[in-house]
Amino acid sequence: MLSWDESVFRDEHVFEIDYLPETFQHRDSQLESLKYALRPAVRGSRPLNTVIRGPPGTGKTTAVQKLFGELGGQSDVEVVRVNCQVDSTRYAVFSRLFEGVFEYEPPSSGISFKKLFGQLTDRLVEEETVLVVALDDINYLFYENEAGDTLYSLLRAHEAHPGTKIGVIVVSSDLSLNVIEELDTRVQSVFRPEEIYFPRYGVDEIRSILRERAARGFHEGVIGTPELESVAERTADSGDLRVGIDLLRRAGLHAEMRASRTVTDEDVDAAYEKSKHVHLSRSLRGLGDSERALLSVLLEHDGKRAGAVYEVFHGETGLGYTRYSELVNKLDQLGIIDASYADVEGRGRSRELSLAYEPSAVRDRLE
Ligand SMILES: Nc1ncnc2c1ncn2[C@@H]1O[C@H](COP(=O)(O)OP(=O)(O)OP(=O)(O)O)[C@@H](O)[C@H]1O
Ligand SMILES: [Mg+2]
Repeated sequence: MLSWDESVFRDEHVFEIDYLPETFQHRDSQLESLKYALRPAVRGSRPLNTVIRGPPGTGKTTAVQKLFGELGGQSDVEVVRVNCQVDSTRYAVFSRLFEGVFEYEPPSSGISFKKLFGQLTDRLVEEETVLVVALDDINYLFYENEAGDTLYSLLRAHEAHPGTKIGVIVVSSDLSLNVIEELDTRVQSVFRPEEIYFPRYGVDEIRSILRERAARGFHEGVIGTPELESVAERTADSGDLRVGIDLLRRAGLHAEMRASRTVTDEDVDAAYEKSKHVHLSRSLRGLGDSERALLSVLLEHDGKRAGAVYEVFHGETGLGYTRYSELVNKLDQLGIIDASYADVEGRGRSRELSLAYEPSAVRDRLE
């Protein structure tokens, strides 16, 4: 182990999940499109609504944060990004918007949605503020059946409260979810968004982004070109840049543990065993108690039929079949489990539930 004051890191913070990179390469066209959609807000008009789609770790949240940083500096424009993994109901989303606009939380005694909504829109109209809302990871609102109502309230706010100007950016990383088609017609009729796509980064793009991050985060000479290449290639396997950033950090920590001032292939290999699961860790972090309970049951009954798993799950939690099915669908859509239909002789089709990851990786991260 290196002594306390010795480190391979110049600035370890640049490898943390909430770090907003200074330079944001390879996303110029997406940033331009988003800027175009948001520009009216600066003039006091309602911005164009936008849907941002793309696989995990492709810079969607970063793009929103970058532009919100610029836009938030304008007077008469208020920007709020809602993390729907955390705030996954309409009420929770509006509480977050209230907090963003008023700069204090809504009364914890609980007020009706109607009141919350009314106070928010009154304030926007009074102050002539344009509100730009980003519903980040909106797929979580869909899993909870809250997306339609939430969008409906946001998009029709000006009808219930004339003068309200709200623009919505919807962000989804679930490519199997067709955000617009999944909405009911009453929402679709008022939602004609611009669409912006964030494709996976190629290995060259990954390499250049990670090289820059490594230069900021490590002291000079800590990581060489071959090691960086190995990190870039492993990252390209999933296309999720988070894997690469996590891998750099863990490889650095591993080198320190060996009392080494340089990162070797051995450090990268060891770190990858953990880093390859960053996506799983992130998905699990957003789960509630019921989903976790279901996963615990599945750890003991991997590959069994949905009916059999339900019996155990119901016995442990008391939850009914409808809720159970919702939870199964959610875990399936998140890619944590596979719930595929299999023909069972004499009994028609039934679902089999299996974990999509090594059970030990799931178990370690559930605790
Ligand atoms: N072009 C880029 N340049 C530098 N860093 C980037 C770039 N794109 C993404 N990153 C970094 O990669 C990580 C993941 O990016 P981000 O959170 O924006 O992805 P995302 O598309 O929102 O993913 P998810 O769909 O899983 O939420 C962040 O740490 C971010 O700093
Ligand atoms: Mg994101």
